[in-house]
Amino acid sequence: MALINENYLKLKAGYLFPEIARRVNAFSEANAEAAARIIRCGIGDVTEALPLAAREAMKAAVDELGDRTTFRGYGPEQGYPFLRAAIAENMFRSREIDVADDEIFVSDGSKCDTGNILDIFGKGNVLAITDPVYPVYVDTNVMAGNTGEADASGAYAGIVYLPCTAANGFVPGIPAEKVDLIYLCYPNNPTGATATRAQLEAWVAYARKHGAIILYDAAYEAFVGDPDVPRSIYEIPGARECAIEFRSFSKHGGFTGVRCAFTVVPKSLMGRTAAGAAQALHPLWARRQSTKFNGVSYPVQRAAEALFSEAGKAQVRELIEHYMGNAALLREACAELGLDVHGGVNAPYIWVGCPRGVTSWEMFDRMLGEAHVVVTPGAGFGGAGEGFFRISAFNSRANVEEVCRRMKALSW
Ligand code: MLT
Repeated sequence: MALINENYLKLKAGYLFPEIARRVNAFSEANAEAAARIIRCGIGDVTEALPLAAREAMKAAVDELGDRTTFRGYGPEQGYPFLRAAIAENMFRSREIDVADDEIFVSDGSKCDTGNILDIFGKGNVLAITDPVYPVYVDTNVMAGNTGEADASGAYAGIVYLPCTAANGFVPGIPAEKVDLIYLCYPNNPTGATATRAQLEAWVAYARKHGAIILYDAAYEAFVGDPDVPRSIYEIPGARECAIEFRSFSKHGGFTGVRCAFTVVPKSLMGRTAAGAAQALHPLWARRQSTKFNGVSYPVQRAAEALFSEAGKAQVRELIEHYMGNAALLREACAELGLDVHGGVNAPYIWVGCPRGVTSWEMFDRMLGEAHVVVTPGAGFGGAGEGFFRISAFNSRANVEEVCRRMKALSW
């Protein structure tokens, strides 16, 4: 029999969101009447129509494929030049951030990229991961054999956990020890917190001092409304020498089902070989993508490009305003109930303290069983998420208003 990758056996339970879906399905099967009333504020999945500019561009691109004179087969694995240029210009250079077109690698999602990036790193790196955290960073390191076993609390040996608590504003302090790879996500999933410029400057200074690399997930940058909150790690001088940034059109343009994202790997970013020789990471990622990935489909890349047209930008703004309006309502409702509420200001997630003595899975069950609302239990994001639950603002206005009403009708 073929040998398996035994690292998979170290993984705790199922991946969080399928596990939630499983529990919701079980509840629905047992409670047909309640099932019809369920409102899903668990996984952060967009609900509103795809922007018109994207739809029109996608249809025109499909028509091009329908004519042999404009037909296209395999595209460049790193993304078409038109999209790489549109991203670099509109998301970076127009904000005076130095990113070249060929430092953009177009992909089908940040979830894939944050996992796949491990292909270009060696074994033995010391990992620093925030707690709570988007579970993909942890699980992909477990799968790659970069950790030991999990303890009773679910913490894996070999990971330096960086606790994010209300006391530190959900932005971790610099670790006392030396680490090599640091995962940061701001605006944060799941807490909805943002990092200040000074906090990111401290991380960049640390990474440069220790030759560490920051894996910066900025998938929610479009939700930052406050001009003082950094939207990219590259706003911080020196970050081009120590950071990779992940971005996505999933939430930005309502593309969760369409699939388009990108990763920025600056050409000035170096790692080292075991023998101590400096090696640029850009050609390694280019090589990895051209070997294991065939690029994003042409119509999807045209749709993403269209988000940067004048009409596209206005439609994206409208989408973001819609979801952030939802976030404000959810925040307000939680505050009115006297709950400990965080996030939801420059991020589409509201991070809410459970009433005293109630665990986050108990809260999940209660919200599902009594209010028929799906939320995400904080413990699913790590040990430090216990005692919290996350409400996603991705929904229709009517559903969010109904969630607020139902929460107010619960006895807290
Ligand atoms: C979430 O709900 O945390 C996200 O939607 C998950 C994802 O983007 O993969």
